[in-house]
Amino acid sequence: MLCCLSGWLCSTLFYFAILPAAVLLGTKLIIKKLRGKVDPTNEVDIQGKTVIVTGASDGIGKVTAEEFAIRGARVIMACRNLQKAEKCVEDIRKKTSNGELIVMELDLSKLSSVRKFASEFLQKYGGDSNPGGLSILVNNAGIVNPLGVRKVTEDGFEETFGVNHLGHFLLTNLLLPEIEKAGNKSSDPSRIVIVSSGAHNWGQLNFDDLMFEKTPFEDFKILPKLYCNSKLANNLFNLELAKKLRAKKVNVNCYALCPGFVLTNIETDALRETPPHWLILNVIRPILKFVMLKNAKEGTETTIYCSLSKYLTHHSGEMYRNSEFWDYSKRPKLSEKDAAKLWEMSEKLVKLN
Ligand SMILES: NC(=O)c1ccc[n+]([C@@H]2O[C@H](COP(=O)([O-])OP(=O)(O)OC[C@H]3O[C@@H](n4cnc5c(N)ncnc54)[C@H](OP(=O)(O)O)[C@@H]3O)[C@@H](O)[C@H]2O)c1
Repeated sequence: MLCCLSGWLCSTLFYFAILPAAVLLGTKLIIKKLRGKVDPTNEVDIQGKTVIVTGASDGIGKVTAEEFAIRGARVIMACRNLQKAEKCVEDIRKKTSNGELIVMELDLSKLSSVRKFASEFLQKYGGDSNPGGLSILVNNAGIVNPLGVRKVTEDGFEETFGVNHLGHFLLTNLLLPEIEKAGNKSSDPSRIVIVSSGAHNWGQLNFDDLMFEKTPFEDFKILPKLYCNSKLANNLFNLELAKKLRAKKVNVNCYALCPGFVLTNIETDALRETPPHWLILNVIRPILKFVMLKNAKEGTETTIYCSLSKYLTHHSGEMYRNSEFWDYSKRPKLSEKDAAKLWEMSEKLVKLN
């Protein structure tokens, strides 16, 4: 009887604990091995150069600001929550005294805030006071709203599209003269780095309803379609921007990237409101965290690669993942026609001209 019970216990332990743990651990090791490696020896020098990181008050953006500071740059942390951003400066200062860290207010959900940020930046750190211009702009900030939820910004845009794409579209265009200035003063191209996502693969832009006003609610209840669309917009923006920069013959490159699955706060609030949230937050997410989620430092590697690697200087308009080129044989091709159309519509929406 005792022997039977211990046999049952052993096999239960094997099938329900040891085997799943071994599978998870094995998968984790394989996934880690498949990730690219960072090569910090082949970076451009950013000592004393000016860089901007949007959304530097949390997750990937905070570590990006830290990595730039470590390398001696003047880092403008463009954030909507100033108190939270100042706390990040304190945290970073505990790790490095290098570089300069400057917090400036930027709320990408308000075009007025984007314009105010750009004009304050030009006044304080642009023009004659900064002959070096702006060497790197990292468009990192981003949001995901709960499935099926459609929020609207004060300018009347669907919020995810407004923050993730339109706010950055306007910001980049307003700062472009300073970015071009930095490129003209240096042999290294200045860079615009767009933190997109592999989720762009599931995006599908309906140019007759970019703000999801007419799309039935049921159509965006299952996949985070609004997020996927905003990330597709990031990639189309990257494609068209590279084309325009090439035509202008300026020494500026742009890149889009997917940071991978990174453990940050981006999806926590969305998940809290998404059924079955208990199961996702307490079972599925911890397993994913153990097996495949990167921590924020690992999640920043591709941003740093795109911002600083010397390998990339000829690949403007492309996309990167795991610190490697992510070519079109492994993902759907982007439409150049859509990229041009999105640019034209975005210009009108943000009243650029
Ligand atoms: N984490 C992932 O697995 C993953 C995967 C693929 C792509 N990405 C992309 O990576 C980027 C960074 O995400 P994360 O994971 O680091 O997220 P996070 O930890 O939530 O950080 C997002 C940052 O964006 C800022 N932000 C949000 N709305 C803003 C607004 N209206 N104006 C200005 N800043 C705003 C946040 O500010 P507050 O601190 O004030 O909230 C925060 O600093 C995003 O573009 C995201 O789409 C992430």
